[in-house]
Amino acid sequence: MARKIQPAQGKLGVLLPGLGAVSTTFIAGVLRIRKGLSHPIGSLTQWGTIRLGKRTENRVPRINQLVSLANLQDLVFGGWDIFEDNCFEAAMRAGVLQKEQLLEVREELEAIKPMKAVFSRDWVKKLDGPNVKQLATKWDQAQALIDDIHGFIDTNRLDRAVAVWCASTEVHTDVGPVHQSVEAFEKGLKENHESISPAMIYAYAHLMAGVPYANGAPNLALDTPALVELAMDRKMPIAGKDFKTGQTLMKTILAPGLKARLLGLNGWYSTNILGNRDGEVLDDPGSFKSKEVSKLSVLEMILQADKYPELYGKYNHKVRIDYYPPRGDNKEGWDNIDLFGWLGYPMQMKINFLCRDSILAAPIVLDLALFMDLARRADMYGIQEWLSFYFKSPQAAAGLYPEHDLFIQMQKLKNTLRHMAGEELITHLGWDYYYND
Ligand SMILES: NC(=O)c1ccc[n+]([C@@H]2O[C@H](COP(=O)([O-])OP(=O)(O)OC[C@H]3O[C@@H](n4cnc5c(N)ncnc54)[C@H](O)[C@@H]3O)[C@@H](O)[C@H]2O)c1
Repeated sequence: MARKIQPAQGKLGVLLPGLGAVSTTFIAGVLRIRKGLSHPIGSLTQWGTIRLGKRTENRVPRINQLVSLANLQDLVFGGWDIFEDNCFEAAMRAGVLQKEQLLEVREELEAIKPMKAVFSRDWVKKLDGPNVKQLATKWDQAQALIDDIHGFIDTNRLDRAVAVWCASTEVHTDVGPVHQSVEAFEKGLKENHESISPAMIYAYAHLMAGVPYANGAPNLALDTPALVELAMDRKMPIAGKDFKTGQTLMKTILAPGLKARLLGLNGWYSTNILGNRDGEVLDDPGSFKSKEVSKLSVLEMILQADKYPELYGKYNHKVRIDYYPPRGDNKEGWDNIDLFGWLGYPMQMKINFLCRDSILAAPIVLDLALFMDLARRADMYGIQEWLSFYFKSPQAAAGLYPEHDLFIQMQKLKNTLRHMAGEELITHLGWDYYYND
């Protein structure tokens, strides 16, 4: 039976903490697409299709024909940043999209001005900016963000809103006692507890304000017992973390293939050069540690060394990111994979991916915004594991290992949509094409 889903009527606010390269590439892209100036390449919600029923039925609608998703014309953008640049200025500075393309949506971009941020240099060492709220406690900061969110919804006469964190990667931290429950977390906010970061304050504020929330960066935020509990209490969907774009996307495409053919691995060395502000922030060891942990976990989970000790028990996995300003947003990644086959004979594979970070991330932001809104209208709350497809470190229920294999993630996503629409799940068994029993 189909799940009851409220239709996507009225305007949907998309709130973005951090109006940098990814956010402005996403916003400018949607503005261009809705004017008919560009195409939504890379977006499942816009161009993805989904097979329904048997192969012989030939029913393959677009995903947005199967489930009710917000229309791009109904999106209204807002956000926060520590710099005062409006979205046109920020996009020009990020240098991802060509000036001519930005000029065609200049007016709309200029109208999006950042609200004052909740920020602390304790958590992002390489940045400092003037557009920051000056308030005595973290509790006051959370309340001010809640006011911002309600103000944004009221001023723009929105029907509902969603948020995707696109701000800088914070310093790595572990879950501590203050993150164990909503009660401990709120006490910590009032006492300015040092282990509560701005990213956690934004997440808290959005959930309190009734806004679904996704985390695009690798730092700790939604993945704490306190915020999971809050999402359940407030009946809000949450998803994270760290957008799966360049090198890790390739890893989660290739590693399942190697494992499927039982090819062994001696080592996987990955290095990147990156010259945008994200690269500068990651030049700080604390922020890099957040990214490293997120990137390293992928192979471990896919290869399951405990199940295949002879093949994956001893491989060496290294990940490096070097800040190299001349490249701007155009990251270059190199992978050297040392693998072995039949009778242990060694082989090598080299990958040189010249990608564009924000070009790969922008459609993910769009899909997450629309799918998180769908989840909310379908009354699905707490961790949205079916959106693992979009993340380097997918959040899963306590005690469950996260699923990293891109193809399993895709099946999970599409089967969730089929389930919501009351369609049969696709198992790819195909028995009845060949047998009668
Ligand atoms: N582009 C990708 O492929 C990709 C992939 C995975 C994750 N990410 C993550 O997405 C995030 C955004 O990436 P980007 O390339 O746009 O970076 P960016 O540096 O261009 O933009 C981040 C913006 O966030 C702002 N900011 C920092 N702290 C803030 C705070 N507390 N409140 C409000 N604003 C704040 C900064 O001033 C900056 O303008 C980063 O955390 C990055 O690691 C990006």
